[in-house]
Amino acid sequence: MRVAVASCAAPGGQSAFSTPPSFMAESNSSDLIEVVHHEHDHLLKLFEDIGDTFEKISSGELDKARREEVLETASDDLKLALEEMLHHFNQEEEVFFVEIEKRRPDLADDIASLASAHELMCDRTRWLHRQLNQSRDTIADRSDEIQKVVKQMRNLLGQHTTNENRLFDSVLENMPPEERELLLAEMRRI
Ligand SMILES: [Fe+2]
Ligand SMILES: [Fe+2]
Repeated sequence: MRVAVASCAAPGGQSAFSTPPSFMAESNSSDLIEVVHHEHDHLLKLFEDIGDTFEKISSGELDKARREEVLETASDDLKLALEEMLHHFNQEEEVFFVEIEKRRPDLADDIASLASAHELMCDRTRWLHRQLNQSRDTIADRSDEIQKVVKQMRNLLGQHTTNENRLFDSVLENMPPEERELLLAEMRRI
């Protein structure tokens, strides 16, 4: 089975936003396992920061001007997070998942469920970003719901990362180093 490429990309394969995709702070390591772990840690940290920002917003402790500033930061951070997720998920779906499934057809169901988690996480992130374009009153009214989705995203990403690291490690550790290098080069072309 070839998984749906970039299952969370907008129609036309473009980012959901009009700006060009930014590139994640990529590790300089030449070891594929390290690179993947570095990118996973980076995405987890992004969503931890976003979670902290939303906690500040809903705490009610910010004055009006500061709240406005923090809302803008949250909106920028969500936009960046979505662009970085699209890039990372695209690399996984185009390169890793295809390669892993070629070697281990028995993992097809696990790979399919990782790909559908990508879609769900992109949907949730887009939803959160849309909320921040609502009026300030609407944001205040939906504060509990927004907080719930932010927490859900952190949990989803945490669980996804754990499952994916386990699957990648088990396959990559058994791959000869020269094949890992080729795979890394292929990933960096995306
Ligand atoms: Fe990943
Ligand atoms: Fe993934």
